[in-house]
Formats: sequence, C-alpha cells, structure tokens
Amino acid sequence: MSLAASKVVFQVLCRPAAQTGYSEHLVNSLDLTLHSTFEVKCVKKRPPRHRHSIRCSSMLLSQLRRTHQFQRMGISLVNYMNYSGSRLQTCKCQQSESASGITAGDGNGAWFANNIETSNSVSNLANAKSILEFQDAQQLKQEKALTSNITNGTIADSRSIEEEAWDLLRESVVHYCGSPIGTIAAKDPNNSNVLNYDQVFIRDFIPSGIAFLLKGEYDIVRNFILYTLQLQSWEKTMDCHSPGQGLMPASFKVRTVPLDGDDSATEEVLDPDFGEAAIGRVAPVDSGLWWIILLRAYGKCSGDLSVQERIDVQTGIKMILRLCLADGFDMFPTLLVTDGSCMIDRRMGIHGHPLEIQALFYSALLCAREMLTPEDGSADLIRALNNRLVALSFHIREYYWIDMKKLNEIYRYKTEEYSYDAVNKFNIYPDQISPWLVEWMPNKGGYLIGNLQPAHMDFRFFSLGNLWSVVSSLATVEQSHAILDLIEAKWSDLVAEMPFKICYPALEGQEWQIITGSDPKNTPWSYHNAGSWPTLLWQLTVACTKMNRPHIAAKAVEIAERRISRDKWPEYYDTKRSRFIGKQSQLFQTWSIAGYLVAKLLLNDPSKANILITEEDSELVNALITANPRGKRGRKNLKQTYIV
Ligand code: GLC
Repeated sequence: MSLAASKVVFQVLCRPAAQTGYSEHLVNSLDLTLHSTFEVKCVKKRPPRHRHSIRCSSMLLSQLRRTHQFQRMGISLVNYMNYSGSRLQTCKCQQSESASGITAGDGNGAWFANNIETSNSVSNLANAKSILEFQDAQQLKQEKALTSNITNGTIADSRSIEEEAWDLLRESVVHYCGSPIGTIAAKDPNNSNVLNYDQVFIRDFIPSGIAFLLKGEYDIVRNFILYTLQLQSWEKTMDCHSPGQGLMPASFKVRTVPLDGDDSATEEVLDPDFGEAAIGRVAPVDSGLWWIILLRAYGKCSGDLSVQERIDVQTGIKMILRLCLADGFDMFPTLLVTDGSCMIDRRMGIHGHPLEIQALFYSALLCAREMLTPEDGSADLIRALNNRLVALSFHIREYYWIDMKKLNEIYRYKTEEYSYDAVNKFNIYPDQISPWLVEWMPNKGGYLIGNLQPAHMDFRFFSLGNLWSVVSSLATVEQSHAILDLIEAKWSDLVAEMPFKICYPALEGQEWQIITGSDPKNTPWSYHNAGSWPTLLWQLTVACTKMNRPHIAAKAVEIAERRISRDKWPEYYDTKRSRFIGKQSQLFQTWSIAGYLVAKLLLNDPSKANILITEEDSELVNALITANPRGKRGRKNLKQTYIV
C-alpha cells in the first residue's frame, strides 16, 4: 500500500461516525488534498488552524502536474499549466489584478433607455466627481467612468456603471493554484480594518457566480463548486464539539504559507471557517443550500451536467440533504436553526424557523431532486425529500401567510384551544399584532411572516425570505403576486432611496435591547436591523421576472444607479429612508456589485432567470390537495404521511 493510500485508510478509520457514502467522498477529496502525516495525526489533536486546510504547495503542484489530478477535479488544466511555472518561484497568487482582461459593456443598458432620469443622474455624477478624493488607481478608474458618463449622456451612465461594476467584480476574483475560485467579500483599497471581508463567503459568491454564468464564464463557478465541496467534508470542531457532517463553511480564505521544511518555498492553503471563528460563532446553515442552488444553475446555464453527475458531487448533495432531513425533536416540517444562521448572521431574534432558511431549504430540495441520479441506496432519501417538500409548502403557505383577511382572523382568534381541531394551533394571542402592522398592511397584497413558533409570530417582513419564496414557488402564484403588490404598495418603506430593506420595521427601544443584546452594529434602521442592502436587487429581479413584472425591479435598479457607484458600492445603507451609507458599511462590497450586475443581465434577458427559478410542481400540488390536513382534522389522520 502506498503512503498516500495508507493515510486515506487511516483517516477514514479515525473519522467519528462516518455516514453512508462519506468515506467514498473523503477518499475522493484526498486525491486532491494529499494530507501530510502531521495532518493525519491532527484527527486526534487539533493543530493550528491554517494547518487544517486544503493545501496546494509548490511541491504538490509539480506532482499534480505530472499526474494530471486537476483533470479529475475538473479544473481547466490549461489554466493550471499556464500558471504553474511562475507560481513555483513566487507562490503569491491569492488574488489577481484582473481575471481575463475582458471588459463589459455589451449593451445591457438598453432596457433602461426610457427609464433613466437624465438630469438627476448627470447632476449626481457631476457632484460625485467633485467630492471624491481619488487616491489610487481604483479611484482614477472611477473618475474615468464618471467623466464618460457626463459626456456621453443617459445610456452611457448605465453602461459605464456596468463597466465599472465588471471591472470591480473581476478585481475581486480570488485564485487558488492559478485557477479562479471565488470572489472576496469586499475590496476597499482604503480600508485596513477588513475583519473577515477578505474571505470568500459562500452566500456572497452566489450573485458573483450567477453574473459569471450569465456572461458565459463557467470556470470560476465550477472551481468554486468543486473546491467548496472539498471543504464540506473537513473535520471541524468548536471546543471539542463537531457540527454535523455535510455543513458547508460560511467562508474560506486562500492563505500563502511557508512550505513545511523548506524555507524557500511557499504553499497555498484553503482555510475554511464553519462559524468556529465567526463573530458570535454562528452556524452557516444557508451555505449548503446556496451551494445546491448554484450547482443546478451551473448545469442549466452551461449545459455541463458532468459536474452534478460526479460521484463526489452526488455524495455532497446527499450529505447536505441528510443533515437537513435528519429527525430531531421538532414538531414542524420547517428547519430548526439557531439565530444568525443565514444572511443575517448575528443575533436578530431569528432563531427557530426563520423564513429565509425555509425558502432556501425548499428551493434546495427542489434543485437537489432534479439533480440526484437514481440509485439503489437513495430511495429512502428521495422519499423523505418528497414528503418534506409537501409538508413544508403546506406549512408555510398556510401558517406563515398574512394579509388583511388573515390578520383580521388572527385579531379574533380564540386562545387556549386544546384539541386536534384547534384553529389557533400555535396559541397566538391577538395582542401580538403590533400597532405598526395594523397601519402597515395594505388592502391589496400580503406576505410571509418572518418566523413562527409556539405562541409567537414574528410579523416583521424579511425581504430575502419573501423574494426567494416567490422564486422557488414555495409561495403560491396568488401569494407571489400579493408579495409583489405589497412591495409596490410599500415602496417608500422597502426601497425609498436605495433598494432594498433587509427587513421591516426595525427593532427599537427595549425590544432592540433584549432581542439584539444591545448590539451597536444593529441599531434601529441600520445593518441587519432594517438597513438597506443593494445586493438584494438580484433576488428582487429574479422574483419580478418570474412573475412577469420586471418593471418593478427595473424601477429599483434605476434608483440604485443614482447613487451606488458614486457611493462606492456600499454593503448597506442606514436610516428609515436609506439616506446614509451604513455606519460601519464596507465599501466596494462585492455582492453589492454582483447583485447589481445580475439584475441588469436578467432585465436584459429575462429568459435567463430560469436557471434560478423552480416552478410549482404538479405532483406536489396534487399531493397537497389529497393530503391537505386542513380538510382532515382529527386524531386518525394525524399519522398520515404524504408520499408523492
Ligand atoms: C456580513 C453579512 C453576511 C455576509 C458577510 C460578508 O456578515 O451579514 O450576510 O455574508 O457580511 O459580506
């Protein structure tokens, strides 16, 4: 047995509670990672963090070159071969200045020709020119873009903003072993306090990945999918406790470190963070769900189904599904999670069954079902998946939905109903209907509430959860239209001067103190607490495109264009009407840039949205009709399972 092979066996044997299919996945991953003896020992004793990562040393690179193992990973060998010669000397290749030198400007601005308010844009841009202090090359580039906006008129405004966005997006690309692998979260040349914004976040990469897909640049997405898959099976612990296998990291960083035993050489390592270093130690539940959604989008857009058909990718999908579908104590079909497990990644009172996670869960289940190749061992998993889809959509459509009619029902709820036939199943006290909601709910429109727990409805409007419920068809067609109606009716609250509020309204006073733990970053109308996040433009655009109402998204994009480039692509905006750049907002935030680009690309070619959309499944609808627990209250029906 070769040394490498014996290490594989050793690690598989040492791995606690290996799951079905796991060892197969691990062996595959070891083809790439070739762990050192030291790392094998680390299964028992945790080494320093950066040693606990996927690595790509200069020595390893030459081995890989000989054995063509990158081909097994599906990574473009041409890219790699081109690169490897220079890398052997310097090994400093974490980020590139520009991935390919290709520039944008392919006419995506056309849709907006009639929509842009010329005078506003031009005067804003002129102002911008006078207030910006151009200190480096990046800013000089902006100046060039702004000058051309002013000279070339309205369409050029939109186009040069897009060109600038493409340049910035390409500059944010991170390379690993010479291949593009993701995009850094933010790249502000003037900010030294980057925290972890110098990492590739899984959720943040999704709009970047979609933008590249829509542009026909598939390599970076393919690499991202395959390398993050390698991280999925990583040994991860926090104070001696390991979260479930199948968890995807929140983020990872490419580090260049000295090569063990050779001072003159360096190696690159992929260093994941599963939440064990993240502020608040939050679990990134959404990462794996987004990964599945991106995997399907990659296949649909590129036509290359070979990635999703790979055994290690199939195993990766199943590991995520098993983690999500595992039995627990929960009574509801919704996924039970801790606070901060998604885009809102700090304490905001969204523990339990937050809508965003449920929408992504539903979407990922549908995407996975489409991609799973039938094989003997997966029948149970597919059955569980189908059952969950039916139960989840019933639960959300029925219990999370509110509009004027439903609100009035809740207002008149009887409480303390002990019976199988209870109308008020979750024992909601009508007093929970906050005064803001009574005023806020429009006559036309409705939405899915943020969270539902025993005796508690979180009535806040959470944007991503609602938008993705439209995209994934978790919401019915009527509900989806009603959500867009509400967005139109509440435009001045949800969009105001910069799209789009992450949630509405803000937690204030004592509620803010108790729920956020007096979090100074989440003060009312800031950051996660009802701040405005330009990245949400892309999800808004997909939702509007699906419902054939793209003008809503187009209007929002136009509003964003008035400021977003001038303000240097902030991460978020503050105040009730989103008038200020966020207090602690990063600038040149990649997903603000990519979100804008995806919105523009989709408005230009709405048919492309189908790579993200999942349509309502007729089998599911039939199952819902026949198994609808609404019509069958009573003990004997409770044990019913919904098998599609
Ligand atoms: C913040 C956001 C999170 C995002 C990260 C990187 O923590 O809340 O959603 O992934 O920044 O941009």
